[in-house]
Amino acid sequence: RRSTTSSAATNTYFSSRGFSSESAPERKVAILGAAGGIGQPLSLLMKLNPLVSRLALYDIAGTPGVAADVSHINTRSEVKGYAADEQLGQALEGSDVVIIPAGVPRKPGMTRDDLFKINAGIVKSLCEAIAKYCPNALVNMISNPVNSTVPIAAEVFKSHGVYDEKRLFGVTTLDVVRAKTFYAGKANVNVADVNVPVIGGHAGVTILPLFSQASPQANMSDEEIKALTKRTQDGGTEVVEAKAGKGSATLSMALVKNILHGQLQLFSQQQTPLDCNLIPYVRLGKNGVEEVLGLGPLSDYEQQGLEALKPELKSSIEKGIAFVHGN
Ligand code: NAI
Repeated sequence: RRSTTSSAATNTYFSSRGFSSESAPERKVAILGAAGGIGQPLSLLMKLNPLVSRLALYDIAGTPGVAADVSHINTRSEVKGYAADEQLGQALEGSDVVIIPAGVPRKPGMTRDDLFKINAGIVKSLCEAIAKYCPNALVNMISNPVNSTVPIAAEVFKSHGVYDEKRLFGVTTLDVVRAKTFYAGKANVNVADVNVPVIGGHAGVTILPLFSQASPQANMSDEEIKALTKRTQDGGTEVVEAKAGKGSATLSMALVKNILHGQLQLFSQQQTPLDCNLIPYVRLGKNGVEEVLGLGPLSDYEQQGLEALKPELKSSIEKGIAFVHGN
């Protein structure tokens, strides 16, 4: 691995001094799309995370301001901004965790799939660079449509011989967060105690919350469960419409910090396996996903939902694969 430290001395980069910490090991996080609606609060949260020692902020617009601003926060990590295509390699080099919120968000009336044309190309080129500069990083895909951008990443990594299914994540944390919040409101229980697994993908009916496995258990009618399921599936659209053309969910995305924190812990010296309750049925270990635990018992309604989502999920996956192979 080449070091990026010396290049930081040139004035093409926007950097700050880091503060060393003897107890925590070195860990580098790169955010691609760091100056956007999601990228900015995410950059802030990563700067506040004591497990991060180097934070690379990359965007094609607005990076210097965000990097300068975030770098003034008096936490451990060294922040550098990277603002142009030719700096992408340096932004990525040596990264342990890469987070991708680059691309356009929805406007009212759009589905996530409407973003495909623009975002597919962005994600593909960013993943080409990841394959080259940090093939062992854990990669977290936020850019929509997640159901297609994750397969795009997988195909790009395969074509470079660096694909590891244990290290590629589609970020659907928001669906879990929404399911928990809506369930707690309806069941009238403390939201902090609530757990709701969500399976499937990250668009419309492909989002399937499993309220039959929610805890604490509450007595709810079939109609109430249906309404909660629909609200969880439409949660993103609710935000897009409320923002009326000024963006999609960027603040509630903040909860993604929990899964990222879990991933960062994997690089700690103890490397303790971690049960991450934000990713249902998956146990994370030092190599990423170490065990897929199965779906658990589904209600009839959930079973029907699972069957109904499969064709849409499959076609979104195929669309991503076809894009990479030029079909
Ligand atoms: P935004 O438009 O505010 O920010 C996107 C950023 O990406 C901009 O700063 C832009 O300059 C940058 N960008 C564009 N092309 C780039 C490239 N080639 N390399 C690096 N950066 C590039 O959008 P926002 O709201 O931050 O959303 C970003 C993405 O996240 C969208 O695709 C959106 O649909 C998705 N999203 C995903 C969610 C999830 O739960 N997975 C939730 C909400 C949004």
